[in-house]
Amino acid sequence: MAHSNTAQALMEMDRAHALHPFSHFESFNQDGALVIMEGTGARLRDATGNEYFDAVGGLWCTNIGLGRDEMADAIADQVRKLSFSSTFTDMTNETSALLVSKLAELTPKGLDHIHFTTGGSTAIDTAVRMVHYYQASRGFASKKLIIARDHSYHGSTYAAMSAGKRPGDHVPEFQYMNDIFHHISCPNPYRRPEGMEEGDLTELLVKEFEDTIERLGVDNIGGFFAEPIQASGGVIVPPDHYLRRMREVCSSNDILFVADEVVTAFGRLGHWFASEDEFEMIPDIICSAKGLSSGYLPIGAMIYSDKIHDVISQSESGWFTSGFTYAGHPVSCAAALKNIEIMEREEILKNAHDVGLYFEAKLATLNELPLVGNVRGKKMMMCVENVANKETKELLPDDLNVGKLISNKSEDLGLLVRPLGHLNVMSPALNITFEDIDFITEKLTESIKSVTDSLIRAGVRIS
Ligand SMILES: Cc1ncc(COP(=O)(O)O)c(C=O)c1O
Repeated sequence: MAHSNTAQALMEMDRAHALHPFSHFESFNQDGALVIMEGTGARLRDATGNEYFDAVGGLWCTNIGLGRDEMADAIADQVRKLSFSSTFTDMTNETSALLVSKLAELTPKGLDHIHFTTGGSTAIDTAVRMVHYYQASRGFASKKLIIARDHSYHGSTYAAMSAGKRPGDHVPEFQYMNDIFHHISCPNPYRRPEGMEEGDLTELLVKEFEDTIERLGVDNIGGFFAEPIQASGGVIVPPDHYLRRMREVCSSNDILFVADEVVTAFGRLGHWFASEDEFEMIPDIICSAKGLSSGYLPIGAMIYSDKIHDVISQSESGWFTSGFTYAGHPVSCAAALKNIEIMEREEILKNAHDVGLYFEAKLATLNELPLVGNVRGKKMMMCVENVANKETKELLPDDLNVGKLISNKSEDLGLLVRPLGHLNVMSPALNITFEDIDFITEKLTESIKSVTDSLIRAGVRIS
């Protein structure tokens, strides 16, 4: 069959020459990669002609859905008009200027300054730079340390990967900036100490933060980095008031609060930005990417406060020597502008809110399954944690790779969900329907039941 010949050939070309992001050599050498050929809305087709509903949303990013003509036209028009122009030092371009102005309308009050990057990791790296630059400019050059949390993922450039700390990400072959980054516990209500009320978890974590500040010295700490909901660390939704309380601690210790909204901004929780609208907290810096262009073209943005700008624009050197060739790329900015226009016109944030609440309710029905220990998340950012024992929350052995078994089975049923260790994670396009949520829930339920049956048949204890 021509179809499968093409599929096999593409897979072999890829296997022979590509080093994928987050390659796992053994499984890649054995299985190769799934070759995707086409996509429309939330639907994908692979090289053998199989179709899938993509509940992963690419990689938390296809917010307005794939393959829109209007996006293609906006991108093509901009390529014809101006395909590149630098934004270094004293140059800009039309779409970059329009986009900073549009973003300043959408950001929380007082966060009116924008520095474009090439994606999320580079926005995080630049935020580290900004923390150092700001603190030094105001005479506190010693405030260089950054506090982040366990199970966080902030990207994969050198600093961003050092800020993150998901189990398994820090491998012995690489080196990390352990002198600058220090980690405290992640706010995971499901795995809180036994017997503790969820409400008491916040104060325990705040106390740990305060103790860490005391141990490292307030004069040495410049910033605190946090995803409002920890995404790839397991869709960890913090307990009530946690983010606000951590913000208060930052404010009273002159520590900048950097919200990593690479996933949560641009609609995933039904708002342009989640920090203020979902969690009632205004950070000093917001990093964003992904939904800013819905993945049509690479772009990121580090958004920072007027307070920071007032200080850094009076710096001793007078130079902010940081930036990327493709910052403010005119075509990426055109894509972001059109993406935001579509979100506004089609009321996609409202859809994400309404369909997202339905997603939460439907997925909660999976709690009845013996393998499911916890269903969590908010709106269009959801996760199922699979366990061996619901009572003790004991996990299955890692080598069973239960998340992958479930995602493989779902794939056979035409649904893509993301496996992350013991978890299955979902972050679909934001314009999907109530019926799409029914489909996701039905197929995921079927997959989990099927995997449970085969595990039990293989003698694995599940209770
Ligand atoms: C919360 C968070 N921050 C940062 C990043 C890094 O973004 P990028 O891959 O665009 O560099 C990611 C990517 O998944 C992310 O989830």
